[in-house]
Amino acid sequence: KANKRLAQLMPGLVRHLHDFCRENEVTVEEWSQSVEFLNECGRMSDDKRNEGQLFWDILGVESLVDEITYKVAADSGEKPTTTAILGPFWRPNAPIYPMGSSTILKDQGGDVTHMHGSVTDFTTGKPITNAEIDIWHTAPNGLYEQQDPEQPDMNLRGRFYTPDSGDYDFYCLRPTPYPIPFDGPAGKFLKLLDRHPMRPAHIHFIISAKGYKPVVTQIFDRRDEWLGNDSVFAVKDSLVVDFAPKQGDEKAGFDLKYDFKLVAV
Ligand code: DHB
Ligand code: FE
Repeated sequence: KANKRLAQLMPGLVRHLHDFCRENEVTVEEWSQSVEFLNECGRMSDDKRNEGQLFWDILGVESLVDEITYKVAADSGEKPTTTAILGPFWRPNAPIYPMGSSTILKDQGGDVTHMHGSVTDFTTGKPITNAEIDIWHTAPNGLYEQQDPEQPDMNLRGRFYTPDSGDYDFYCLRPTPYPIPFDGPAGKFLKLLDRHPMRPAHIHFIISAKGYKPVVTQIFDRRDEWLGNDSVFAVKDSLVVDFAPKQGDEKAGFDLKYDFKLVAV
């Protein structure tokens, strides 16, 4: 069955592509390299790496369509929780944990953080019950668990459900800056452009609740040196947070409070 939206989009895409080739006098040799690149992205992609998405991300395309899709105006004043790109490393079916537990399944060092806050309705301020908080981040070695045979399955991933109070809390790590995978076609592409692969330290979230627009987002450590220079252009001011030293908790050296505000559908 024909796809109307595709039929609507293709003439513009083809026109821009053709104009681009004409304006730059792209040769058969150069075009062949793009074919090889696309094929290599396909060959290298599996459930552990996602080269196609990585490629769009280093060109800022996921970040752009995030902005277009969610249109939350820049970053000042009281706003619902801002979205950010999903990135290539989310996995479905992260383990479900009770509030107060930890996503850390193996001690690999790093700064344990007690993260807490609330999930509320942005308009009414009321707590949201049974909101799902799906969180994932890298280990201190800069790898997500599926990239790293040394980590247990589903390490540093978890899902938590808010009680009637809308409050949540769990233990995770203060994240570390890390390079996006540099050994595949997307990494090669960055090298050819003399660009660095670093992402500022971040924690990923998907917050969802019945009756509300789900929020795919990331939070960033204010102290990170790569904050202004993200290889995939995902940082937004309202998503930059402060980790505070924590006293009196033998499990965690840092405290992070962050409130999620959702908009009803
Ligand atoms: C990308 C996003 C991430 O969050 C990450 O950890 C690595 C890569 C990306 O957008 O390609
Ligand atoms: Fe990430």
